[in-house]
Amino acid sequence: MKAIKVGLMGIGTVGSGVFHVLNRNQAEIRGRAGRGIEITMVSRRNVGLAREIVGEAAQVVADPREIIANPEIDIVVELIGGCTLARELVLEAIAAGKHVVTANKALLAVHGTEIFAAARNKGVMVAFEAAVAGGIPIIKALREGLTANRIEWLAGIINGTTNFILSEMRSKGLDFSVVLKEAQRLGYAEADPTFDIEGVDAAHKLTIMSAIAFGVPVQFDRAHVEGISQLQAADIKYAEQLGYRIKLLGLTRRRPDVQGGGIELRVHPTLIPANRLIANVEGAMNAVVVQGDAVGTTLYYGKGAGAEPTASAVIADLVDITRLHTADPDHRVPHLAFQPDAMSNTPI
Ligand code: HSE
Repeated sequence: MKAIKVGLMGIGTVGSGVFHVLNRNQAEIRGRAGRGIEITMVSRRNVGLAREIVGEAAQVVADPREIIANPEIDIVVELIGGCTLARELVLEAIAAGKHVVTANKALLAVHGTEIFAAARNKGVMVAFEAAVAGGIPIIKALREGLTANRIEWLAGIINGTTNFILSEMRSKGLDFSVVLKEAQRLGYAEADPTFDIEGVDAAHKLTIMSAIAFGVPVQFDRAHVEGISQLQAADIKYAEQLGYRIKLLGLTRRRPDVQGGGIELRVHPTLIPANRLIANVEGAMNAVVVQGDAVGTTLYYGKGAGAEPTASAVIADLVDITRLHTADPDHRVPHLAFQPDAMSNTPI
């Protein structure tokens, strides 16, 4: 079967990670997907920079709409970010019958209802593992691994920038503004850090997880959102003296006590007893705890950002779409693409 053709709209840090990991692990990925996955087209306003990443391996264009217009492209990966152009492009790609993979949490948290409805009408998939907690496969865990459960609640450290800042404030006794500058210097925080430090990025991710866990529409505007910019080194020190760590936590849970039921969505600095696992998640890492009625408490930990962790999630979606929607029927069931000969020679 010939390879599935993928177009990357926006090739920067994450796009370059996708390109390199797909190339490096292409044999394994082909085995798992049932056919090859090839990036044949990429877009970036600065085509020279895109060319430096992909060389001659893919067609480089400045206008992402050229990718959508190409009938050869089966899957479009949206890595442009933001809500305006990205929304238009994703809706256009869906209308053109392309499957879409996106890492854009803001887009889905704000326009998810419209986008998923368009995809359903057109019979295409919109996949977004990379939009929440980067390399941690939390969307697949909620959807697949925990599918038998009634989820009671989930909570997580889902913004690496703020977790880095809080960890540094605690371990070095520094003030927020000093550590923020350091985080910017190291590339953990953006030049405009508002979305991260004010909890908006975490609320976007929480909104998406909540919609999946509880089967409700994405409702970002209903979330309570409070960031870490008002915290002082003294708050962290006093919390520690009392046996707590302060973490920016996103929490969503059922509220059976509210008339008619309801779902709570909130992001705010939270005091967590220092002996809890999640209190010890340090630096620019993410962790999510999910409470299911059958499984009990589960914990997921890993890198929530970065080129290759995010690429890992994007490619997982590419494989899913390839296997489930475009492969021959033999590959629709997940399977282990192992080689029996190699197995028999493996010492135990
Ligand atoms: N700024 C985000 C974070 C990047 O720190 O988690 C990944 O969404």
